[in-house]
Amino acid sequence: MNNKTKKILILNGSLGGSNGNTSVLIETALKYLKKHDVEIDIFHLENNPNNIKNKLAWADAFVFTSGTYWDSWGSPMQYFLETSTQYEASDLFLFKPASVMISMHSVGGKGVLSRLQGVLNTMGLSIPPMSGFVYSLATHLSLESNNEFHDDFWSLTDIEIIIHNLITAVKHEHDFKAWPVDRKDPGRRWL
Ligand SMILES: Cc1cc2nc3c(=O)[nH]c(=O)nc-3n(C[C@H](O)[C@H](O)[C@H](O)COP(=O)(O)O)c2cc1C
Repeated sequence: MNNKTKKILILNGSLGGSNGNTSVLIETALKYLKKHDVEIDIFHLENNPNNIKNKLAWADAFVFTSGTYWDSWGSPMQYFLETSTQYEASDLFLFKPASVMISMHSVGGKGVLSRLQGVLNTMGLSIPPMSGFVYSLATHLSLESNNEFHDDFWSLTDIEIIIHNLITAVKHEHDFKAWPVDRKDPGRRWL
C-alpha cells in the first residue's frame, strides 16, 4: 500500500463550467473525495486555464467531466485534448488513473464516455474498472418514481464507487468495487 497523499485533478470540459449541470457531478465527487486523504484541484476548462502543464504534472490521478453536446464532449474538452496532445505518452499522463463523468439530457452520453475513455487511454492514462459514469435528465426524472428497474440505472450515489475505484487505482491497492446491477434477469421485458 502506498500512503503518500495523492493529488487529484478534476478537469471539467463542459460548456456550463462551474455553474452547469456537470458541476453537480463534481460537487458529488468532491463529497466522496474528501473522505480520502487526497489533495484536490478543479480546472473548469472553459476558463482556458494557463498553467495547465504544471497542474497535469502535479496530478497523480484525474477526473474528466463534460456534458453531452450533439453526441460529443464540450468544446473546452476538445480544446484541452488538442492542446495537450504534445504531452501524449509523457510522464504528465503515463499510467495515471482517470475517471470520466458525463452528463446529458437523454441520448449520446455513453458514446461520449466510451470515446473519451478511449482517447485518454491512448494518450497514456489508465482507465480503472468501473470508473466511468453517465447521468441524464431522463434518469434523474425516472429516479423520482419507485421502479423495479432502478438498480440498472446510474444514480448520483454511484459516484462514490467511481471515486473509490479511482483512489484504489492511484494507491495501487486494487480493491475495486462494483455498483448495483441487475444480475437476476437483465433481459426481462420492460415494454
Ligand atoms: C448545444 C447543446 C447540445 C446538446 N446536445 C445533447 C445531446 O446530444 N444529447 C443529450 O442527451 N443532451 C444534450 N444536451 C444537454 C446537455 O448535455 C446537458 O444539459 C448537460 O448536462 C449540460 O452540461 P453543462 O450544464 O455542465 O454544460 C445539449 C445541450 C446543449 C447546450
